[in-house]
Amino acid sequence: MKLYKKEGNVLQIISFPNEHIEKGDYLLIEDKYTNKSLIAQVIDVQFASVPGIFEELLRSFPNDGGIFQEEDIDPLEIAPHTMYIQDTSLLICKIRATFENKLLNPSTSWLPSRSKSIIKKLPIPELLKIAKIDGLLPITLGKTKDSSLITIDATSLDGRLNIITGKKGCGKSHMSKLLMASLIDYKAIVVIFDLNGEYSSLGLSTEGKKNRYFEKIHELIPAKNFKVSINQLHLNIVMGIMIHALNLPGASAREFRRIWKTLRKRQQLTLYELGETIRNLNCNQHIRDALSSRYHTLVNSGFFTHKKQEVSFLDKCIVKSNENGGAIIINLKKASSIDRQIIVEFVLGKLVDLLACWKLKAVFLFAEEAHLYLRETYWDDIVTRMRHFGIFTTFITNQPDTIKESIYRQADNIFLFNFTNDHDLDVVSRAARVDAQTVRAIAIDLPPQYCLTLGKIVEDFPIVTKVKALDIQTLGKTRLFF
Ligand SMILES: Nc1ncnc2c1ncn2[C@@H]1O[C@H](COP(=O)(O)OP(=O)(O)O)[C@@H](O)[C@H]1O
Ligand SMILES: [Mg+2]
Repeated sequence: MKLYKKEGNVLQIISFPNEHIEKGDYLLIEDKYTNKSLIAQVIDVQFASVPGIFEELLRSFPNDGGIFQEEDIDPLEIAPHTMYIQDTSLLICKIRATFENKLLNPSTSWLPSRSKSIIKKLPIPELLKIAKIDGLLPITLGKTKDSSLITIDATSLDGRLNIITGKKGCGKSHMSKLLMASLIDYKAIVVIFDLNGEYSSLGLSTEGKKNRYFEKIHELIPAKNFKVSINQLHLNIVMGIMIHALNLPGASAREFRRIWKTLRKRQQLTLYELGETIRNLNCNQHIRDALSSRYHTLVNSGFFTHKKQEVSFLDKCIVKSNENGGAIIINLKKASSIDRQIIVEFVLGKLVDLLACWKLKAVFLFAEEAHLYLRETYWDDIVTRMRHFGIFTTFITNQPDTIKESIYRQADNIFLFNFTNDHDLDVVSRAARVDAQTVRAIAIDLPPQYCLTLGKIVEDFPIVTKVKALDIQTLGKTRLFF
């Protein structure tokens, strides 16, 4: 390979036919004069455009068309050389860092020697070592194209905001299961809003037998094994549900608060009493109607109860998970849109309460297609306020434009699967941690189950990974007719 051009942080390198370099590979450009090296990533492979190559190609057309009858004459024997030139490629590379005295710095301001630089492929394991990516708590994500393992550090997920995005069916849920399983192994608590009811399979192997995660997976199905005692519900949580999930206007919300407090003081806080009080309320008709309709939504959700034996397992699950780690799966598959919002409001409120009083250290929250149940103001809340409480979120979506731009800008890690749609790629490439050119060039060619990892987790060296398989049952497959 030969250095050809440098423009800003883009290098152009000539690569000869016997050097097999692909998009996503890393190169080390060693300068013998200064003892410094550049680390660059190939983001595009093109043909070298040499003057006269077009003519040369035309001339070497197969002559079975009958136009040229005579034999090719090559008295000077230059044919092998021109063929060599025809197959020479031009690598467009982005400089990622300078490597000097065994240290990395992000500077790209110096120019390596064109005549004396040695360019070679930098194997990913070596890159991981240079960038100190694998740490004390390793998570193996998968393999590179040349079959070396890619291992990241679980602590680089700690306290971070992650996004997993890509086309349908290319392995996003698989990736989040992989991350969840690794986190539970390190005794973390994971909560997932499971929209398709597919995460409980984490506890079962492909043959359907219990695996080592089985005891740590707690699936909660709202209105079935997940109910909340209205008596133990905190006022701030119930008001959150009323105002945010059920859009109760201010005046009615004040009235509701008053009723709730009165009933609690009288120790008569049951669904029945609440309904009766609202029915007999002596106030503005509109307020009574507003309260009454919300009350019926609460009752119909089947999520609230006053019978002790039916009360939620959420607290129990959390206590259990707190010791050895565990995943609490909130199965939202059968819940209606409004019920989903009630449940999510409750779960988030509950988590914040538990974190605020240090009953929990921190929680990793995974949210699939969050726009279907997360209210508008929660998005910013999750990246600011909730992060301080210790809720570290991973958003998973196949519609990247449902996540706000501000979230992308604050995302620490992005796991990007294939996208062919330009619009989708545009949205993702606005994330501050990546340059748009890299995202576009690499993501568009990713095969299914390959993922481009960006951000803190790879120390800002974008790496393409073939995500490893998991020995777990696959649920949540798309239902088909044929
Ligand atoms: N790295 C992988 N190795 C083996 N199977 C995979 C891998 N990634 C995904 N799959 C399988 O491909 C299918 C689709 O993956 P899934 O994660 O559900 O896609 P998505 O959530 O992006 O729609 C699932 O059956 C899953 O088990
Ligand atoms: Mg999925």
